[in-house]
Amino acid sequence: MLTLSLVPLSLLALAPRLGLCDDSSDSDSSSNSTATPNLKQNSNNCSCYAIGSGSSNSSEFFSYHRFYDFRSLATSADQFTTPDPVSDDEDQGTEGVVADDAGYLNSTGFMDDWEIQNWSTNASADFPVRMVNTARNIYISDDTGNTDIEYPTYLTMRTVRLADFSSASEMQNNQQNMMHASVRMRARVVGASGAVAGFFTYYDDDNEADIEILTQYPSNQYEYTNQPSVSKDGNEITAATVNVTMPSSDAADDWTQWHDHRIDWLPHRCNWYLDGRLVASNSYSVPRKPSGLVLNMWSNGGSWSGNMTEGDAAEFHVQWVQMVFNTSGPRGGPDAETKKMRRSARLLEEREWPEEQLGPGCETVCRVDGVKAVGYPEVAYVSMGGAAGLVAGHAVVWCVVAAVGALLAWS
Ligand SMILES: *[C@@H]1O[C@H](CO)[C@@H](O)[C@H](O)[C@H]1NC(C)=O
Ligand SMILES: *[C@@H]1O[C@H](CO)[C@@H](O)[C@H](O)[C@H]1NC(C)=O
Ligand SMILES: *[C@@H]1O[C@H](CO)[C@@H](O)[C@H](O)[C@H]1NC(C)=O
Ligand SMILES: *[C@@H]1O[C@H](CO)[C@@H](O)[C@H](O)[C@H]1NC(C)=O
Ligand SMILES: *[C@@H]1O[C@H](CO)[C@@H](O)[C@H](O)[C@H]1NC(C)=O
Ligand SMILES: *[C@@H]1O[C@H](CO)[C@@H](O)[C@H](O)[C@H]1NC(C)=O
Ligand SMILES: *[C@@H]1O[C@H](CO)[C@@H](O)[C@H](O)[C@H]1NC(C)=O
Ligand SMILES: *[C@@H]1O[C@H](CO)[C@@H](O)[C@H](O)[C@H]1NC(C)=O
Ligand SMILES: *[C@@H]1O[C@H](CO)[C@@H](O)[C@H](O)[C@H]1NC(C)=O
Repeated sequence: MLTLSLVPLSLLALAPRLGLCDDSSDSDSSSNSTATPNLKQNSNNCSCYAIGSGSSNSSEFFSYHRFYDFRSLATSADQFTTPDPVSDDEDQGTEGVVADDAGYLNSTGFMDDWEIQNWSTNASADFPVRMVNTARNIYISDDTGNTDIEYPTYLTMRTVRLADFSSASEMQNNQQNMMHASVRMRARVVGASGAVAGFFTYYDDDNEADIEILTQYPSNQYEYTNQPSVSKDGNEITAATVNVTMPSSDAADDWTQWHDHRIDWLPHRCNWYLDGRLVASNSYSVPRKPSGLVLNMWSNGGSWSGNMTEGDAAEFHVQWVQMVFNTSGPRGGPDAETKKMRRSARLLEEREWPEEQLGPGCETVCRVDGVKAVGYPEVAYVSMGGAAGLVAGHAVVWCVVAAVGALLAWS
């Protein structure tokens, strides 16, 4: 088993307990922040974010943070009904989100940041079932199991097998210019065999880092891949995939239960985590292009996805998505136009954030792990050479000693 021995990070984690850091979490309103171009969501004081990743002792730094919380979207009990699946006649992907969900999924706030997909694929020899993505398969569900929140919810992505086709779901984040990232979600997968739940960074089929959960396999098995996993001549590239069978099949490792999933896409390596445990690492074909984040739930009847029985369904449940990232180029990605054609996505509005939002550098370093509330980064330390330890008018105690600062491989 791989163990993490992160000197700076463990000291950072210790600092608040020693009373060395002002770690009061941000009180900035996040109520409408999805609608505002704020890439430092829930953490306006932070000028950058540090994480520990893999076996390196030095921290990885990122400029931006986003947190999408699907856990408290209801204002009353039993607010959301499950939309009926599409019928055999509804095979164009034209359905919209249902009325119950429109307040959220049709809002500017959601649609600025996410795009629900409606592209389709035809049946082929290898993938014998036609597949059609539809918004009808993306909806909000009441979460009967969460006692922390008054009216708890999660986001559901569904795939349903009809007689003529497989009805699937996909949504992509509109931040298409991530260049290295730590992307996380709290999720579970339930339902019939023959579906694939995917959580991945995407530029093209050669620049993609994946977490894939296949419902035809045991519920402690996970696939972590840097694409391409198939060569031009059609052979499997074994170096692309790390298949992980977790030691137990109980709730601790079982993808039918809620877990924190994470991909760290770094310059020369991807690391994958399950509930904070490093479970896979791969330096093969690490994505090299500005990318977006995609979630999907699908099936095409092929041997890899499996052949779902007609009338069956499977669901991908998501409580939250977190993105910590750097960017390169415009928000719509390097070639929004080409990608639009390739993925039938609508042309993404190009939005470039003013340079000021990056801050002058990385004076106020925040952590995203080991915080009181996931999604709310906390100030870890104010770096030397920074703005004299002043953050938003507050003198912040230099909470990390010089020795630790020197250990940080931060340019
Ligand atoms: C967000 O909320 C603040 C405070 O209520 C308000 O001033 C601002 O106009 C809102 N922004 C958007 C984009 O709705
Ligand atoms: C963050 O900034 C706000 C003012 O914008 C301040 O009230 C708060 O104390 C700051 N938090 C930290 C941890 O510095
Ligand atoms: C990381 O730190 C540990 C403990 O201090 C040390 O044994 C190890 O060699 C270090 N690894 C690297 C890659 O520097
Ligand atoms: C993110 O960008 C910052 C600022 O340019 C850089 O120092 C840092 O190394 C980058 N992080 C990664 C993981 O590439
Ligand atoms: C697919 O979605 C795009 C963008 O939302 C929309 O313009 C288009 O009409 C949709 N196509 C179908 C077949 O519904
Ligand atoms: C969602 O928005 C679209 C486009 O504005 C609209 O056509 C549709 O009726 C809306 N759906 C609901 C359920 O309100
Ligand atoms: C599927 O095949 C039909 C008929 O050949 C064609 O018109 C359509 O464009 C194809 N769709 C896709 C997504 O390839
Ligand atoms: C990973 O698992 C899949 C599904 O069982 C299999 O097709 C593939 O060959 C495996 N890859 C590696 C590298 O073990
Ligand atoms: C796939 O499933 C369909 C519907 O359940 C069935 O008719 C078909 O024979 C299956 N195909 C394979 C290759 O198992």
